Amino acid sequence: MILNIGLKKILIIDFGSQFTQLIARRIRELGVFSEIVSHKKVKSKDITPLTAGIILSGGPLNVYESKKYSFDKKIIEKDVPVLGICFGHQILSKINGGKVKQSKHREFGLAKIYKKKESLLIRNFFKTKKMTKVWMSHADQVSKLPKNFNVIASSSNSKFAIVENKIKGFYGVQFHPEVTHTENGKKLISNFIFLICKVKKNWSSKDQKMKLIKDIRKKVGTKKVICALSGGVDSSVVAQLLNKAIGKKLYCIFVNTGLLRKNEEKEVVKTFKKKLKINLIYVNAEKEFIKKLTNVSDPEKKRKIIGNLFIKIFERYAKKIKDVKFLAQGTLYPDLIESKSVTGSQTSKIKSHHNVGGLPKKMKLTLVEPLKYLFKDEVRKLGLELNLSKEIISRHPFPGPGLAIRIPGIITKEKIGILKEADHYFINSLKEQKLYSKIWQAYAALLPVKTVGVMGDNRTYEYLCLLRAITSEDGMTADFYDFKKTFIQMISNKIVNSIRGINRVVYDVTSKPPSTIELE
Ligand code: XMP
Repeated sequence: MILNIGLKKILIIDFGSQFTQLIARRIRELGVFSEIVSHKKVKSKDITPLTAGIILSGGPLNVYESKKYSFDKKIIEKDVPVLGICFGHQILSKINGGKVKQSKHREFGLAKIYKKKESLLIRNFFKTKKMTKVWMSHADQVSKLPKNFNVIASSSNSKFAIVENKIKGFYGVQFHPEVTHTENGKKLISNFIFLICKVKKNWSSKDQKMKLIKDIRKKVGTKKVICALSGGVDSSVVAQLLNKAIGKKLYCIFVNTGLLRKNEEKEVVKTFKKKLKINLIYVNAEKEFIKKLTNVSDPEKKRKIIGNLFIKIFERYAKKIKDVKFLAQGTLYPDLIESKSVTGSQTSKIKSHHNVGGLPKKMKLTLVEPLKYLFKDEVRKLGLELNLSKEIISRHPFPGPGLAIRIPGIITKEKIGILKEADHYFINSLKEQKLYSKIWQAYAALLPVKTVGVMGDNRTYEYLCLLRAITSEDGMTADFYDFKKTFIQMISNKIVNSIRGINRVVYDVTSKPPSTIELE
């Protein structure tokens, strides 16, 4: 899908590389709008005067197995500069009459490339006068350059590591400038967009804010919008954006499931209703959730019960607001990209995710999805631009089903109470020790096992608390955070000494895969 947002852009044609989204993010970090489109969908008619440059991504395909991919070659005849990366470099060479074949020596990882000729593309890119280190990942390579192409740099295994056809504005690199392992990779991308495509900066949080507010006003007019607010980053940013755009025509519904973190419902009311003056409908549905979850221990059943009940309650309250025409949701750009190589929802097949998106289709409301152009890091910056506090913007992710999936087995009110306390101690200690922002997500869970302990001279028989803290890029893969022994010791003591019901603490040291981040 091509987004038509009226800005000059760099169009990234995706051939399935795991790094395609990184290319888009790098360009946006440089202040220019970029968009990803699948090679199967894009046609030459999509290259409009708004397309300032084209990047052909890498991918797992082989250029010589042309039946496996389709590409409208007329795209590169549009007089728009083209940069081919890895596979993109190979296909660009092939279309122009060059040859590609399997490399004798595959190159994976760091490689040194040596400068052969000056080019705008490599201005200030080389770390030393003649050499720089780049990150390669390829089994094929260009074996014969097309006519009118020059070699700009070579590695010992890739003679054509950087090439150009200056007249046509075609550039090819065999390595990946978008990954951080390539020294100065961002400089090369910057040279392409600013020196070669000559595009001007048009993408900052401030630009986005103004544009999104204008677009929302235009779309919504005088009608009403409802929004499910969870207090998480995405729904908070959506709510505040709509608040700025349409004020009291926005109605946010916040459902307290009773499965939230300690004091979360109070914080949400304080921030959104009192401070930001948003129309907030607070629904206390604690009892309903607990009742429905009585004696349920199967993880998928819990998830379904919570998801369905949430929707039912949301609908019940939404109906009370007259003349609503729109439903606002926090859909992000990675959800829309057709080839979901990086954030493809691997986990959704393993667990049925519940979130405030995906609300009832039968409500027949038109969707407003103002964040659909943005990556998560851009949403955070936009949130700050909208005066949301750092505290809200940098919060760890929290799953829709809440604490229910952090209490394996049967859920009781007593267990929820114990867990809220333990989690609170853990997260507060992380903040006090300045560890919170180094960790992607952390939480406490209450395991359905009791073990024996001794406190004073007395025997205890209480629950086991599991702590999880992980580092991750996007939640798809994760590693456990390597705490110092003193921290683990301190938090274990604090939890066991302060919370009746827990007499033992364990730390989860599994990565994802093979585990998942949440327990259920
Ligand atoms: P897993 O456990 O699948 O979690 O490794 C990956 C990330 O997704 C979050 N998560 C959810 N988020 N609704 C959500 O909005 C859900 O149902 C849900 N389940 C898991 C989890 O906290 C982690 O950040």
